[in-house]
Amino acid sequence: MEDIEHIEKKVKLMDASGRRLDGRKSDELRPIRVEAGVLRRADGSAYMEWGGNRVLAAVYGPREAHPRHLQDPARALVQCRYNMAPFSVSDRKRPGPDRRSVEISKVISEAFSSVVFAEQFPRTSVDIFIEVLQADAGTRCAGLSAASVALADAGVPMRDLVASCASGKIEGVVCVDLNKDEDNFGDADCPMAIVPRTGEIVLLQMDGHLTYDEFQKAMDLSIGAAHRIYELQRDALRRRYSVTLEDILKESPPLPPPPPSEEPLPPIPPEDDFGPEGI
Ligand code: CDP
Repeated sequence: MEDIEHIEKKVKLMDASGRRLDGRKSDELRPIRVEAGVLRRADGSAYMEWGGNRVLAAVYGPREAHPRHLQDPARALVQCRYNMAPFSVSDRKRPGPDRRSVEISKVISEAFSSVVFAEQFPRTSVDIFIEVLQADAGTRCAGLSAASVALADAGVPMRDLVASCASGKIEGVVCVDLNKDEDNFGDADCPMAIVPRTGEIVLLQMDGHLTYDEFQKAMDLSIGAAHRIYELQRDALRRRYSVTLEDILKESPPLPPPPPSEEPLPPIPPEDDFGPEGI
């Protein structure tokens, strides 16, 4: 054990100029791409690439809650299942739920319970599924941010989207959005999620130790990053639902043929002509 600790301390995570192993500065996010509406069966869905993470989110509901004894006559349940595919990490992950995935599912459910207008849908359930296809640290933040887009795609009424990002400490420096090596060999990791419109914090966890000032710095970095992620989430929804003039023309029925040009009027009969019979 002592040997391992010795090896971990020797991993160099930052160069002399303050650049991290992947070339990022301390306040720089990994590249992020979000796509809304990627699954046909689900009521709402989203796919997110965040650095080395690949995450799929699907949402069903509000639909009748099962088993029935879980139904709440006053509000909808917001249930989440976070799952890591066995092939998502380099060491094969044992399929099925474990302590970690149960914990992540719970904190994500709680984060969304505070934004979904659950009281409008008594006895129902909003079911959120997060599948991590490839993991590279920060999967709960990526899963939560993707699920938020999937909820909006499903048309579930919410106060706002939820945007999430982690910050942590590596080599004594507070940095945003740690990757796998930084998470493994760094000093602390602090994932959080906010409701950007109100600034409310709906998820906050910490692994490791930060001083009060470091924690403040980490929160500032995460809040700034969450606002950037919020823009990417809204862009994904805009791309899915915005309609161009071209789309309208493509979908509208063909225009009716123009009316036939007017026939020339018959010639006016002479004044003394009173028709075939006369009067
Ligand atoms: O993914 P997140 O940072 O939200 O959660 P974590 O528990 O801090 O896990 C950090 C990373 O460890 C994951 O993203 C995976 O890359 C890795 N991990 C793994 O390799 N095997 C596991 N069974 C669990 C996590």
